Amino acid sequence: MHSRGAFCLLVFVILFLVVLFRTQLIATELNPCVQVTPGITYICMELDLKGIPHDIPMSTENLDLSFNPLEVLNSNYFSSVPALRFLDLTRCQITRIKDDAFAGLHNLSVLLLTGNPLQFLGPRAFQGLPSLHRLVLLETSLSSLDCLPIGHLTALQELNLSNNYISSLKLPEYFSQFTHLNHLILQSNKISSISREDLDVLSTLNLTLVLNNNNIEYIQPGSFKGIYLQELSLRSSFENHSIMQVGLLNMTGLRVNSLVLGGYRNHRKEESFNKNLLDGLCHMDIQKITLICTGNAFSRTDSLSACVNNISTVRFVHSYLKTIDFPENTNIRHLECKDARFQRVPVENLVSLKELNELHITNTKQLTEFDVEMEASWTLTKLEVLDLSSNNLNTDLCWSSLKECFPHLMSLNLSYNPLVKVSPQLIGPTTLKYLDLQHSRLIGPGAVPAFLGLKNLIYLDISYTSIYISTECSFCGLDSLEVLKMSGNSFKDNRVVNNFTNVTKLKILDISNCQLQHVSLNSFEFLHDLQELNISNNKLLDLYPESYSHLGALTILDVHCNQLITLTTKHLENLPSSLKKLDFSQNLFDCSCDHLDVLLWIKGHEDLFMHAEMMKCHSPSNLEDTQLMHFHISSCQVSTTTVAVLVSISVVVVLLLILVYKFYFHLYYMIVLLSGGHSSVDHNKIYDAFVIYSSKDQVWVKQELEETLEFGVPHFCLCLHYRDFRPGMPVITNIIKEGFHSSRKVIAVVSTHFLESRWCNFELEVAQSWQLLDSKASLIFVVLEGVDRVVLRSKLGLFRYLRRNTYLVWKDREVNRHIFLRQLKTALLDGKTWTEDEQRSMLMKK
Ligand SMILES: *[C@@H]1O[C@H](CO)[C@@H](O)[C@H](O)[C@H]1NC(C)=O
Ligand SMILES: *[C@@H]1O[C@H](CO)[C@@H](O)[C@H](O)[C@H]1NC(C)=O
Ligand SMILES: *[C@@H]1O[C@H](CO)[C@@H](O)[C@H](O)[C@H]1NC(C)=O
Ligand SMILES: *[C@@H]1O[C@H](CO)[C@@H](O)[C@H](O)[C@H]1NC(C)=O
Ligand SMILES: *[C@@H]1O[C@H](CO)[C@@H](O)[C@H](O)[C@H]1NC(C)=O
Ligand SMILES: *[C@@H]1O[C@H](CO)[C@@H](O)[C@H](O)[C@H]1NC(C)=O
Ligand SMILES: *[C@@H]1O[C@H](CO)[C@@H](O)[C@H](O)[C@H]1NC(C)=O
Repeated sequence: MHSRGAFCLLVFVILFLVVLFRTQLIATELNPCVQVTPGITYICMELDLKGIPHDIPMSTENLDLSFNPLEVLNSNYFSSVPALRFLDLTRCQITRIKDDAFAGLHNLSVLLLTGNPLQFLGPRAFQGLPSLHRLVLLETSLSSLDCLPIGHLTALQELNLSNNYISSLKLPEYFSQFTHLNHLILQSNKISSISREDLDVLSTLNLTLVLNNNNIEYIQPGSFKGIYLQELSLRSSFENHSIMQVGLLNMTGLRVNSLVLGGYRNHRKEESFNKNLLDGLCHMDIQKITLICTGNAFSRTDSLSACVNNISTVRFVHSYLKTIDFPENTNIRHLECKDARFQRVPVENLVSLKELNELHITNTKQLTEFDVEMEASWTLTKLEVLDLSSNNLNTDLCWSSLKECFPHLMSLNLSYNPLVKVSPQLIGPTTLKYLDLQHSRLIGPGAVPAFLGLKNLIYLDISYTSIYISTECSFCGLDSLEVLKMSGNSFKDNRVVNNFTNVTKLKILDISNCQLQHVSLNSFEFLHDLQELNISNNKLLDLYPESYSHLGALTILDVHCNQLITLTTKHLENLPSSLKKLDFSQNLFDCSCDHLDVLLWIKGHEDLFMHAEMMKCHSPSNLEDTQLMHFHISSCQVSTTTVAVLVSISVVVVLLLILVYKFYFHLYYMIVLLSGGHSSVDHNKIYDAFVIYSSKDQVWVKQELEETLEFGVPHFCLCLHYRDFRPGMPVITNIIKEGFHSSRKVIAVVSTHFLESRWCNFELEVAQSWQLLDSKASLIFVVLEGVDRVVLRSKLGLFRYLRRNTYLVWKDREVNRHIFLRQLKTALLDGKTWTEDEQRSMLMKK
């Protein structure tokens, strides 16, 4: 029976576990999406979904369902996620979008339908998308714009129709309602001809039109007349140069801010560059031209059409340009060469560009030389911006030559080059306001006052330039400097001391990643205007709030990723009150309850802290990686309740101990009684009575009880401790085992001594308990003379009135003695059984 029940229980437990595990499995099956921002952003990419997972909350704003076989979008398909703003349905094998599929998505701003082989679009397929800004229908098998039911999407800003089969640029009437449209992308389609009126609806828009990778064979002259475009991109749009040349001529009358011509790097056609190729540009109104991937044939600017010379901004991107040759009357103001073939900066060739204001030569591997001292005989009077970033330069920067060569230079960018040497010179280009040297190895700054002559410089970026700040005068002379970015360098002794005393106008200082261990007290004493200070990614062990006390304008302080352990509320309260943002994340926070006040302060100023989710406890070890903001203050209070519980438990224990001490005998008696002693002893009662008395009454007991009862007739057998207790046993065990358990009755000899003795009182109490436990037991009280009645009554209580008990008063007179003895014998006789021997001896004595 027993084992059967156990078996049933086992089966039940196993079934329960299986069910639990199954539900867990189902739950993970139902919740496969990656939750990026809880309640807001979910990525459910490539999960073989046939619809929207049920557990995506209604509040979801960004949903990526790409690469799931959704196939057909029925009406109200997205009703469970009405708050969507971004929806990615890339490559979901969607062939049919039925009417009102997107109904209710009032806030949807971006809809990506890339790579779906759309075959059927209901006339109301895109109904109800009043906020749609960006619609991407890339690679969706569209062959015409006419069948696209999007005329009501008047909020549209970008329509990307790349990689389709659209063959006509004839834009439907409804485009005239797209007053916000700024990007129309028709890259990689099948447009081969452009006619007048095709673009008529565009005349009011300020549009970027991308027609790359179409094969345009025919442009009707005048098609672009009166059209204004923000940008027109025609990369690889013509079969060959001759079609392009005529095509551009046929585009006469176009007004465009930026025109992009050229090819692609991967399918570059080797064609010679015809000098008249770009003649058509003379008949257009162009602000900026970008010639991109123009191939090997084109390596000199003098092979360019003169029509380029009047365009204000000229950009060469991925060109084979080796030198620059422009005629005298060139009006180019902004020249940019990205990834060209220069070996040196051709300053002398640029002198002809009288209007040149901005020069960018970047991303050119071959460019290793820029010798300002040698170039100083040439002057580019109008040049204000010189950008030579991301080249292979190894140069000596001589301030005085730079000043002669570019007398109006405002901005110099020499970042991302291998080596720049800067020597200390008192005279420098006073016009210079922006200097960017980041990520170039610098020699000079840090060891010498390298920027002495730049008294109008506002912006200096020397991040990651391998400099070692060893002189306090490193930044002397930079009287106007407002922004100093110098992360990723190092300071002498890893300390900030008086390095910034001369840059008193500073507003933004970035000294992150500088291996700093210490920021001395007066480091920022003179930076009264400082608004933003970044000391992140250093090795600060302590925050010295006094160092920041002068920074009355500070709004942002970033100390994330240091080794701050102990913060005190004093630290935090002494920070400038102007602070709006504080980043303390990724430090070694101690979340033990000793720092409760700091944790409370931080929680109370949650708005102040940036990246609060990265503020994690480092110690104690059980809280490691707990987010500080999720740290439960109550966990500290719990420990106080634990303390309270512990205290009360110990109080109870102490009380119990006191009670045990006080009632030790009683307990012991109870234990002996309950341990079964009394049932087994019942049969061999060997005494008629156990006498309890005070040792001071021993004489009386001997005379009046022992002699009269034991030697008289009938014969009684008494238990007297001086005689009958077994030696070597604890007294208490003797009392219980020899006394109570082996006797039928108990005689209590109550005298004044008896009542005063603790021991007798105890015996009396045990006797009373014994009587309560054993229904046949009875007590005989023998009250001697001179006992105080009141005390007696309170001691004996109700026991003297129990019917089983006998209450005798002893008086030392012959008559009374006689009566007493008779009464005592009667009481003792009650319940006595006689052995045969006893009966015989009794008869003989009679
Ligand atoms: C749409 O956005 C507005 C404002 O951002 C918001 O009040 C509204 O609740 C959003 N609608 C839905 C359906 O979430
Ligand atoms: C068209 O959209 C696709 C997908 O978003 C994007 O990768 C591409 O750059 C867009 N084309 C243009 C020219 O913006
Ligand atoms: C056209 O749009 C561009 C941004 O796309 C903007 O910078 C320019 O000012 C606009 N021009 C006109 C004339 O609205
Ligand atoms: C340019 O227009 C002329 C005159 O209509 C036409 O013959 C020629 O084919 C057109 N060429 C291109 C490439 O559009
Ligand atoms: C300098 O050039 C780099 C690389 O091209 C660029 O990231 C940086 O913004 C430029 N600096 C300035 C001040 O324009
Ligand atoms: C730098 O500042 C200190 C203290 O304000 C001043 O005595 C010293 O002349 C300054 N040095 C330069 C080169 O400006
Ligand atoms: C401080 O510098 C670090 C990089 O060193 C950067 O990640 C962080 O965004 C900067 N902090 C601020 C507030 O700009």
